Parts: sequence; C-alpha cells; structure tokens
Amino acid sequence: MRKQIAAANWKMNLSISEAETLLDQLMATDHHIAANQEAIYAVPAIYIPLATQKLAGRQNIYVAAQNCHSKSSGAYTGEISATMYASLGVKHIVLGHSERREYFNESDAFLAEKTDAVLAAASTPIFCCGEPLAIREAGNQNSYVETQLKNSLFHLTAEQITKVVIAYEPIWAIGTGKTASSEQAQEIHAYIRSVFATKYGQAIADQISILYGGSVKAANAKEIFSQPDVDGGLVGGASLIATEFAAIINALK
Ligand code: PGA
Repeated sequence: MRKQIAAANWKMNLSISEAETLLDQLMATDHHIAANQEAIYAVPAIYIPLATQKLAGRQNIYVAAQNCHSKSSGAYTGEISATMYASLGVKHIVLGHSERREYFNESDAFLAEKTDAVLAAASTPIFCCGEPLAIREAGNQNSYVETQLKNSLFHLTAEQITKVVIAYEPIWAIGTGKTASSEQAQEIHAYIRSVFATKYGQAIADQISILYGGSVKAANAKEIFSQPDVDGGLVGGASLIATEFAAIINALK
C-alpha cells in the first residue's frame, strides 16, 4: 500500500523562536500518524537542526528541505546539496515547487538533474508539478503536467521512480484560498498515475504517492484526501498553524 503523506511547506516564513514555538505546539497537538502515514516538515534550511532535534525519536515524522542544488559539492556559493542534507539526516527534499520554477527559472532539465542528485544521496524527492490558470482555463492541464513529468522524471528506472513522491499543485490554487474541487484533484491525480502506468506499468504506478497542494486546510483536507488517487497533501499556509496541520494529518487515509 502506498504511503499517505501530510507534508508541511513553511516556505520563507517564521523567525527561529517562532519556528521553535510552532514545533512545540505541533508536538503538543492531538494527532495520530498510522504505520502507512508520514508527516514531513519542509522547514527553512537554517531551521533544520532545530526541527531535527525537536522531532527526534518520533515515528514516521521527517524533516525535509525545500530545495537543493544539482551538484553534490563545489563552487556554488549560497547553495546546499542533497548530500549535505543527507549528512544531517534529512532524507526528503522538495523539488520544482512552482515558486522556484517561476522566481528562480528552474527548468525541467535542471529539475531532472536535481532529482538525480536527491536519489544519488539515497533521499526522496518530493517532485512538484502543476499548471497555471491560463492552461487550466484552456483545458490543457493534463498535457502540461505530463510534459513536466516526462521531461524531468522519465529518464529514471522503475526502481528509482518508486522512490519519488509527486506533489500536484495547480498554481492558481497556491496561497489563493482557491482549492481544486476534490473531483478536479482526483481527475488529474488519476491522469498522473496513468502517465506513470503507461511508462512503468500499473504495479509501479500504484506505488507512487501523489500529494495534492494548493490551499489545503483542516476544513477541506478530509474531502480531498478521500479521493482514491490523492495520497495526502503538500501544505503551505495552513502548516504554519499547529491545530490546522494536526487536523490535516488526522485527515489522511
Ligand atoms: P498553500 O501552499 O497551502 O499556502 O496554498 C501550498 C504550497 O505552495 O505548497
């Protein structure tokens, strides 16, 4: 059975004392993480040691990075590699978030290299994809997302692809309060799974967790996660409120 995942994406938010308070509040909330479930906290890189220490010893809870470089080391001032994260025990890395694609011009080809770097560090890429509003309005979201996946992931072996987590995040739903309906989410998640099934076979595709992201909150998580091809969420704004994120974890299948 594939994993059900609630992943928090804090983005570039919180001071260190606010981060500490939020982690303490989160751990004090009433939430349950079952054996088939994971809670993942993608915190700003400099808060990783704090988060690792706060969450130590907890079952199925992981600290993640929000990005990494494609090389393992070298003259890349200001960058952090997947190998460096792995040396801290951080084994999940978000890649290709739409904000990185848009503001930092990250291309499908660069994301293919980053994916290789994360897998080479024996870590899990949480690979983001998703269409802008104009593409959705034109009804071309499936082919748009398919191209993103093909360009960045189709060079992977079947064994490698099972180690990748996909996060489908329609750009028009990120931070806007506009969520895809659960039907819209299911439709495109099923399509994404079919894209992997065509390339790698159904049994492999069935092992891939596909998370939904875009204005997920406590009030809509259960409905969205109940869809058969939605295996949890990547959560921005609501992950900064302990009770909200705890409820989102509790909404996992
Ligand atoms: P949001 O962000 O939940 O604030 O819409 C989701 C994301 O960008 O990962």
